[in-house]
Amino acid sequence: MLEVEHLAVNYRGISAIADVSFCLEPGQIVGIIGPNGAGKSTMVKAILGLIPSESGIIRYRSRALKEQLKQVAYVPQRSQIDWDYPTTVWNVVLMARTRHTGWFRSHSRQSKEIVKAALERVGMWSLRERQIGELSGGQQQRVFLARSLAQEAELFFFDEPFVGVDKKTEAIIFEVFEDLKSQGKILLVVGHDLGETTRKYDRFLLLNKQLIANGSRNEVITATNIQKAYGDSVILLQRGEI
Ligand SMILES: Nc1ncnc2c1ncn2[C@@H]1O[C@H](COP(=O)(O)OP(=O)(O)OP(=O)(O)O)[C@@H](O)[C@H]1O
Ligand SMILES: [Mg+2]
Repeated sequence: MLEVEHLAVNYRGISAIADVSFCLEPGQIVGIIGPNGAGKSTMVKAILGLIPSESGIIRYRSRALKEQLKQVAYVPQRSQIDWDYPTTVWNVVLMARTRHTGWFRSHSRQSKEIVKAALERVGMWSLRERQIGELSGGQQQRVFLARSLAQEAELFFFDEPFVGVDKKTEAIIFEVFEDLKSQGKILLVVGHDLGETTRKYDRFLLLNKQLIANGSRNEVITATNIQKAYGDSVILLQRGEI
């Protein structure tokens, strides 16, 4: 179980998220939703210890998560990745194995097999020699999905994996999510415009600086909760008035 208690983050003294608490069971795909600037990326980064938090306890299987980051795979929002960095698809995914191999040792045959399987799983094996800057948005997202698979983690964090991806990539991503779920992994997936895909998630965390709702699709995606998180504009859009 992943437990987050009273997580709070300030940037230069201004609160970005406050008093966020929730628990997640294994074998779930969890959507983190909320408007732009709601603190979704901040929450993920704070859970992973990538940014400092004001307060908060994060436990996985009753132990501090920061002592078991090997169990975590994280795919940042695409805008946060330097796509001009000169490296190939193969190397990006192989890098995920470094924590298993160690920095100054060469990668084992087993690691290379795992990387190959991950690239095949997402349909990117044939493009393994390609520079990452020369891929489409959907292909880039699939490379990072492969990288997370190669980590053999238990907890997966994806920040807006569906932005700018084609339908084929979307379908591949959801297939992989389902596989991971059936293996008992926990997946946290940030996305603000889920549309038709809300049925693919087991539960949602609705965030706007605070956790506004936490539960099943029917419990979370209600007119009252959405208005609380997004304000009146979304309600008007739903009625087709603007
Ligand atoms: N490094 C930073 N320094 C200062 N303020 C920041 C920093 N990163 C984010 N913020 C602010 O914190 C708030 C939450 O940002 P965050 O990126 O977590 O939101 P988000 O929900 O992920 O938004 P989006 O949907 O646009 O990705 C915003 O007001 C943002 O401007
Ligand atoms: Mg974000």
